[in-house]
Amino acid sequence: MKKVFVKSYGCQMNVYDAERMADVLATEGYSETKAMEEADLVILNTCHIREKAAEKVYSELGRVREMKQEREASGLETKIVVAGCVAQAEGKEILRRQPAVDVVVGPQNYHNLPALLRKSQAERIVDTEFPVEDKFDHLPAPAKAKIQSRGVSAFLTIQEGCDKFCTFCVVPYTRGAEVSRPVSRILDEAMRLADAGVRELTLIGQNVNAYHREGPDGSVWSLGRLLRRLAEVPGIARLRYTTSHPRDMDDELIEAHGGLPALMPYLHLPVQSGSDRILDAMNRKHTGDEYRQLIARIRKLQPDIALSSDFIVGFPGETDQDFEDTMRLVADIGFAMSYSFKYSPRPGTPAAEIADQVPEAVKAERLARLQNLLETQRQAFNHGTVGQTLDVLLEKPGRHPGQIAGKSPYLQPVQFESDQHRIGEIVAVRIVRAGSNSLFGEWIKPGDKVAA
Ligand code: SAH
Ligand code: SF4
Ligand code: F3S
Repeated sequence: MKKVFVKSYGCQMNVYDAERMADVLATEGYSETKAMEEADLVILNTCHIREKAAEKVYSELGRVREMKQEREASGLETKIVVAGCVAQAEGKEILRRQPAVDVVVGPQNYHNLPALLRKSQAERIVDTEFPVEDKFDHLPAPAKAKIQSRGVSAFLTIQEGCDKFCTFCVVPYTRGAEVSRPVSRILDEAMRLADAGVRELTLIGQNVNAYHREGPDGSVWSLGRLLRRLAEVPGIARLRYTTSHPRDMDDELIEAHGGLPALMPYLHLPVQSGSDRILDAMNRKHTGDEYRQLIARIRKLQPDIALSSDFIVGFPGETDQDFEDTMRLVADIGFAMSYSFKYSPRPGTPAAEIADQVPEAVKAERLARLQNLLETQRQAFNHGTVGQTLDVLLEKPGRHPGQIAGKSPYLQPVQFESDQHRIGEIVAVRIVRAGSNSLFGEWIKPGDKVAA
């Protein structure tokens, strides 16, 4: 049997896509391997979001090429495929920079992989068209055993692409225009996953809350409506969605946070900056105060919600005052978790053309200050759960023998001792300690007295 090794960079969409590629290649007789050296086919599933991420691909390709040569010396053939957003953005340039690459394939063309591999016997090949047909109609469903091997928490793509055109971002160019998948397809996929034991679905999309597509009743469904329907799928206990844009939080979705128990009290809602001037220059189309008001509305319905965000520091023209506005917004809101980055100019995006770029040293200093504050908030949030009893969805054996590990509703990893529970169960666990990345808890046997 031929073996394929897939390495993904970047966002959850790439993780999901890697699984779809493995599924389509399974129909061609490929099994997955975690060891690159034994792979007949190596796929790098790349990310173009920041310069560092994109450049990493070329250094990694250098290593893959060496391995290809070593295997060749022992008479084994290796195909190298570059997929993902760098493939889409750079296309032929990748073939030029790395002669060992056989196929370059963009995110909308993974269903063509078998044909591309066949063609690559004769010539090196690039496929970065935006096809008219929907790739999801051509990607096979994974086998039940495959779903089971991937765990009880699964990603499900409901939307792809982005029409927002934030001035710093490559995604609208690499993933194309916003397309929502039909409700019936999403339900089919959800039921198949649930049938194989999946308990938690994370609905993903570059702009997931812009979801809109006709439902079985003929009307157009929003994300809020879709979530309500998915909550009825037998077996599905938890729902999450990511990544959202503040402009697309409509009433139905906000209300779901108050009235839909399966929707976990965690929301990743990137704000990027707290300065109105910078938000405008980023083309985010909302102000810092509008974000504050939105969060206040959501918290009114779901006071326990844990918030998470992305931030960019050093966007062109960002002054000390703009940065202080970001620090103030962070202090005002309080985030349980965050991702923060130095602005990285990306070819072809409007912000890269702005003359007033912020010096690297200033970016580094601002990032350090922001990360310090965000880390303090994260620790405070985690410590705040000590003493609480949280429902934990069990995902895998823990780090030490006898331990079992899962996630809290707030997406925190939790470990506790148990020999009685199975993966996929949801167990009430009393949190006794917060480590730097995980929480530690104890299981309260029904009938046991909880120490005060
Ligand atoms: N669709 C998501 C974000 C996708 S990219 C959204 O709208 O929030 C993930 C994060 O990468 C972004 O939220 C942003 O914080 C960061 N990012 C995107 N482009 C960047 C750039 N040019 N430089 C630095 N960070 C960037
Ligand atoms: Fe990029 Fe903005 Fe679209 Fe998010 S909303 S993917 S940051 S353009
Ligand atoms: Fe990266 Fe593409 Fe995702 S650029 S963040 S892999 S959409």
